[in-house]
Amino acid sequence: MKDATLHSLLVEQLRDMYHMERQLVRALPQVARAAASPDLQSALADHLEQTHEHVRRLEEAFEELDVAAKGKTCVGMQAILEEGKEVLESGWEGPVLDAGIIAACQKVEHDEIAAYRAAHAHAVVLGFPVVASLLEETLGEEKAADAGLNELAQTVNREAASDTVGAAPEGRTGEKPRAADRTAKAPSSR
Ligand SMILES: [Fe+2]
Ligand SMILES: [Fe+2]
Repeated sequence: MKDATLHSLLVEQLRDMYHMERQLVRALPQVARAAASPDLQSALADHLEQTHEHVRRLEEAFEELDVAAKGKTCVGMQAILEEGKEVLESGWEGPVLDAGIIAACQKVEHDEIAAYRAAHAHAVVLGFPVVASLLEETLGEEKAADAGLNELAQTVNREAASDTVGAAPEGRTGEKPRAADRTAKAPSSR
């Protein structure tokens, strides 16, 4: 019978998160390269560095709990990354593409925040202060990454709203741009 304790739930959560973070280590370089704005590129590159550290902290948490550091397929993050891939392959350009990338990355961050918040609470109540503080540290960085994306979105969204090149054609809001609309030059702010 499956171990029904909260401790076993915590270990399962950490394994899910371990796979989640390692998926992000693989995905983030491509997303950073696709971004049009140098500010967004460097924010994503910075967060990639932090993500390596998130993987390392989870390994430390496994060690602290004396369990094997292994991942378990995180289907939630797989789906979010699949959606993100659609944004990259959509044909949008410039600030509109960046607005899409930011929205996709914020879904990632919000998922991570929820995962770290829950696992942190479980580590606290189970009496694993070292694990709790490792999770809390990462949670703080995920929140900061989300706040940074909010900040970037202020400018990017304004630029995207006035960009008639990358935006969906008039009357077809919410749809992907037609091939003919994608061939026009990106705005000079790129
Ligand atoms: Fe992370
Ligand atoms: Fe993150």
